[in-house]
Amino acid sequence: MASKVLGIDIGGTGIKGAPVHLKRGELIADRHRIPTPQPATPEAVAEVVGAIAKHFDWKGPVGCALPGVVRHGTVYTAANIDKGWVGTNAKKLLRKVLPEPPVVLNDADAAGLAEVRYGAGRRHRRGSLLLLTFGTGIGSALFHDGDLVPNTELGHLHFLSGRHSGIAEHYAAARQREDDALSWEAWADRVQAYLDYVEELLNPDTILIGGGVSKLKRWSQFGHHLSTRAKLLPAELQNNAGIVGAAAAAD
Ligand code: BGC
Repeated sequence: MASKVLGIDIGGTGIKGAPVHLKRGELIADRHRIPTPQPATPEAVAEVVGAIAKHFDWKGPVGCALPGVVRHGTVYTAANIDKGWVGTNAKKLLRKVLPEPPVVLNDADAAGLAEVRYGAGRRHRRGSLLLLTFGTGIGSALFHDGDLVPNTELGHLHFLSGRHSGIAEHYAAARQREDDALSWEAWADRVQAYLDYVEELLNPDTILIGGGVSKLKRWSQFGHHLSTRAKLLPAELQNNAGIVGAAAAAD
């Protein structure tokens, strides 16, 4: 088992990576960030991933997280990234720029692994735990007794509330707060409607909320507007969750 793995988080605006100490779940060097090339085609992104590995002169295992369904290395959906990813064998493609074939997984699944192993989920592994990340989209990671059920994509649920009928992330993602110039309270109202729906479907024991809103200052403005039957907690690893979780997945 490797003790250090390079974690890389491929996002819509930035591609970030750092070597991660697996025992501690901490970055062991400053993370390196390169803006996501536009268009973010698989080839253009692969080049950046290679540049990040080169930056750290990396020779060992690598884990990569990206915002889409990933099964056995192949990407199946691309809601907020270049459509060219659909059908791409990311593991094979990224292998060309890395020292070893990487483990590739969904970004929310990676963040969930990081939280369950090192963060807010580590004391709540028993039973079912759901991490929801609020950013450009809504990501989800579902665990039962600490085991991940990958690719749940609950941000793409169609749901009907008093005011909305359609895809959940088009209504309640953090991006909607900015796009629709919503107050924290108005956005929390949307998130609450979504949480109610998700709780009705899955009844998890614990819900972790990730994304920018999990930062302590933000959570203090926002968290008290939400109420769930599940224990509700902010995620702890914030910006580094994708990197740490991608590395953990490659363990
Ligand atoms: C994607 C998910 C991703 C989430 C957060 C969604 O639009 O479909 O795969 O986890 O955004 O990035």
